[in-house]
Amino acid sequence: MPKKRVLITGAGTGIGKDTAKHLVGRGHSVIAAVHHADQVAPLQTDLGPSAKVIKLDITIPEDRLQIAELGVDVLINNAAQSESGSLAEIKIDRVRRLFEVNVFSALELSQIAIRSMIERGGGTVIFISSITGRIPEPFLMPYSMSKFAISAAAAGLREEMKTLDKGIHVSVVEPGPYSTGFNQRLSNSRFEWMEKEGSLFSPKQIAAMKSDTDRKLSWLEVGTTDTIVKKITAAAEASKPRLRYVAPWTFALLVRVLRILGV
Ligand SMILES: NC(=O)c1ccc[n+]([C@@H]2O[C@H](COP(=O)([O-])OP(=O)(O)OC[C@H]3O[C@@H](n4cnc5c(N)ncnc54)[C@H](OP(=O)(O)O)[C@@H]3O)[C@@H](O)[C@H]2O)c1
Repeated sequence: MPKKRVLITGAGTGIGKDTAKHLVGRGHSVIAAVHHADQVAPLQTDLGPSAKVIKLDITIPEDRLQIAELGVDVLINNAAQSESGSLAEIKIDRVRRLFEVNVFSALELSQIAIRSMIERGGGTVIFISSITGRIPEPFLMPYSMSKFAISAAAAGLREEMKTLDKGIHVSVVEPGPYSTGFNQRLSNSRFEWMEKEGSLFSPKQIAAMKSDTDRKLSWLEVGTTDTIVKKITAAAEASKPRLRYVAPWTFALLVRVLRILGV
């Protein structure tokens, strides 16, 4: 297997950190990009000297520009934030801010990577979307819409890169629910403002939402990130990666069944 220079964003925690560790273990040259400067030293210790840890807030243009000179073969757009609540009442600025991170910044970073990959004769851009980028999730729609946008962007960009014919591959990875703390934060983000800002939904409905979420997450979340890390690694290592990678397999099956049913 050819060793690659892989840059992964949002590598300070969760799926990004686990993927960075796995890729280091497989002998790749990993650039693990973290959100905040104080995450650099602990992660560098964790990953060891073969990896390079950098601070890269994907929303900051100067931070993004650093990647032009890093000779990246594979970019994994993993960094993301969460925002939830009903589309009937959420302040649109919250949705706008979320799209700035999850969609626009990931695309701007990818544009820089694509130019440098073209100069080097090719490469792969991977977007970490979500199963909620395939199946709309009521009350999590700000986040779900951002992931629909990323899944669609990956599919379209992939075709554009085929036309360009400069060796740029594009894939999207769509994880189901994994227990990294992200889903809990995603779910809770709506309650932070619904309770303060005079929601259309009654306290009883809000309380029911809270217990419904806790029940769903304890039932659905996968305890370790192993299966999704393997999918991301498969996309990063493939000479011709597939468009889409989904894990765990139960969610891959669900998406297929819903597609057959026309849902
Ligand atoms: N866990 C799941 O069930 C699940 C399911 C579907 C999709 N996903 C996707 O998987 C990816 C990783 O999520 P995770 O579960 O591992 O959650 P996570 O631990 O919260 O990972 C997200 C990472 O992105 C970083 N980040 C946020 N804003 C950033 C910015 N502006 N610039 C750079 N980094 C930034 C976060 O840093 P800070 O925490 O320091 O802000 C964090 O390290 C995300 O794209 C998420 O949407 C997760």
